[in-house]
Amino acid sequence: MSLAIEHPEYNYGVVRRFAIMTVVWGIVGMAVGVLLALQLAWPWFNFEIPWLTYGRLRPLHTNAVIFAFGGCALMGTALYVVQRTCQTRLISNKLAEFVFWGWQTVIVSAAITLPLGITQTKEYAELEWPIAILIAIVWVSFGIVFFGTIAKRKVSHIYVANWFFGALIIGVAVLHIFNNLAMPVTLWKSYSIYSGSMDAMVQWWYGHNAVGFFLTAGFLGIMYYFIPKQAERPVYSYRLSIVHFWALIAIYVWAGPHHLHYTPVPDWAQSLGMVMSLILLAPSWGGMINGMMTLSGAWEKLRTDPILKFLIVSLSFYGMATFEGPMMSIKTVNALSHNTDWTIGHVHAGALGWVAMISIGAMYHLIPILYGRPQGQMYSTRMINQHFWLATIGTVLYIASMWVNGLMQGLMWRATNADGTLTYSFVETVVASYPGYYVRALGGAIFLFGMLIMAYNVWRTATTTEVRDEADVPATPLPATRRAPA
Ligand code: HEM
Ligand code: HEM
Repeated sequence: MSLAIEHPEYNYGVVRRFAIMTVVWGIVGMAVGVLLALQLAWPWFNFEIPWLTYGRLRPLHTNAVIFAFGGCALMGTALYVVQRTCQTRLISNKLAEFVFWGWQTVIVSAAITLPLGITQTKEYAELEWPIAILIAIVWVSFGIVFFGTIAKRKVSHIYVANWFFGALIIGVAVLHIFNNLAMPVTLWKSYSIYSGSMDAMVQWWYGHNAVGFFLTAGFLGIMYYFIPKQAERPVYSYRLSIVHFWALIAIYVWAGPHHLHYTPVPDWAQSLGMVMSLILLAPSWGGMINGMMTLSGAWEKLRTDPILKFLIVSLSFYGMATFEGPMMSIKTVNALSHNTDWTIGHVHAGALGWVAMISIGAMYHLIPILYGRPQGQMYSTRMINQHFWLATIGTVLYIASMWVNGLMQGLMWRATNADGTLTYSFVETVVASYPGYYVRALGGAIFLFGMLIMAYNVWRTATTTEVRDEADVPATPLPATRRAPA
């Protein structure tokens, strides 16, 4: 059967490259995550090789999963969605190619410099100034391609997914540029222009909004396009999606100081961060409900369509993480959770459950279309289903073990005897954490195994026309574009 790419006039080449690299970097980043999990359970996994030690690999993991895996998923889907919903091709193929290759160069530079110990030591902004400048150039180019394409759109309406992608692009550009202002002293060493508590404030204004704009807004853009497409239903409430957008953007930017409770940062700023975080629950859940209710009238599809399972279960984890986050931002709760594995559990409820699962679901929808597959299906739907269960079980093992560890650590650290001395030494709390670390390593390995199945499925989809097992429900490449109600 010959392959027919729908809308050959659109630039799918760059989207295809981003989609493939999403899978590749996902596997690399998660493999490093599994190694870190093994190192925490069995320290000899550090191998006594400096560039394989925990301290150097941890930022490599966070950069690889957030910016390489997450970044490729976001850029690929944004460049796809903007063409489809604006019914026009990208404003410039050359600039789009530059964005792709520039971003891969950033990722490879990170993979070389971080294990060598070259770092700005700012969390999620570790990359030294030459790479930070390259990021700014590539990101602004991404913005030009995206907004330029919107400017020459053939429909007057700008679909809501593009609003979220647009917020991602503008938000991350501002955050990245201001947090990275630094004075270079050598090619690979610079000093931040901020210091002391000002540095902390800027860093967590960046850090929290990296969560808000990179790990949330961008993936909500994915949600607003791919859930309606896969479910063949219009968004439950378009009006709610607009309220969701503005409320989320307006509130997120104030919540950063919840990362700095009980620090020398002014008390009012901490309290403001807490209150704004509590309010953030409302738009977060509004968005989740909007995504889930899109399935109303079509819930039975969840039984048979594993892609939809990925997309909808990711929203459940999003709901979980955005309920937990506001709770953890309450000062008294944070006094228990801060610095414990509870935070790590929260992070991965968002990272594995939400970010990774929605990206995986979107890729399974996208890749058959990008390769012009017969009936718009992946090579094997059964493998998608197997992947779904591995990802869900892996995520649950990971986050449940970290919740148990976190609560235990927090309670053990604060336990005191009648005479006021501490009941437990720190080492005792580490020893008590080992069972949780074993379970987390197992959960991570299961999740990674699912990614390897995905890689095989994607490879077969890209290189053959064969369909190994048919989907029960025919996958729907292109139902009508959803628009705002009149
Ligand atoms: C309403 C939404 C959310 C709120 C209010 C919130 C709140 C919080 C709080 C209070 C912490 C702990 C800070 C500390 O004790 O140091 C935290 C940590 C974190 N959260 Fe969330 N969270 C939310 C959603 C999410 C989501 C959806 C993700 C991921 C996709 C996420 C990723 C993270 C990360 C990566 C950290 C760790 C930061 C670090 O210390 O390195 N959060 N969040
Ligand atoms: C197989 C999957 C994964 C495994 C086994 C894994 C494992 C780990 C480990 C062991 C840590 C260090 C925890 C610590 O310092 O106590 C970590 C940190 C982190 N991981 Fe993962 N990870 C995985 C996937 C992901 C994904 C997909 C993302 C994001 C999309 C992510 C984001 C993060 C972040 C932001 C941190 C830093 C958290 C903090 O500082 O509070 N991870 N991961």
